[in-house]
Amino acid sequence: MLRRHFTNALLGSGFAATAGSIIYPILKFIIPPENAESAVMSVSAGKPDDLPANSGKIFQFGGEPGLLIRTAEGDLRAFSARCTHLNCTVQYDAGEKQIVCACHGGVFDLNGKNVAGPPPKPLIAYSVNARGDEIVVSRV
Ligand code: FES
Repeated sequence: MLRRHFTNALLGSGFAATAGSIIYPILKFIIPPENAESAVMSVSAGKPDDLPANSGKIFQFGGEPGLLIRTAEGDLRAFSARCTHLNCTVQYDAGEKQIVCACHGGVFDLNGKNVAGPPPKPLIAYSVNARGDEIVVSRV
């Protein structure tokens, strides 16, 4: 009797695990996540006082990195921080006043235009608005 219960429990749990491994991916495919990262249209990238002139910082834009720059003249600019060559994360180079990719030496100007190295096209530009006490970055 004990062996029969054990066998039934073993078969039942195996069946439940198999059914769960089939049903769970189907449900995840059918029901979209509540906050799809690709659907993020704007994010808060911080406070204006946190970004001094001639500096940049990386922020999260949905599931991707973004680069927020305050130029030496005080303008705010934002781009996707994904290099258009092989998707490395670009950084702001305050000394050269340009955006650089350390992976293969890609260089972009402060408008996101590719000016040197292997990147084949400009960075994706975002619009930036300083609203009160926060910087809001939006897809164009
Ligand atoms: S990934 Fe940026 S230059 Fe290659």
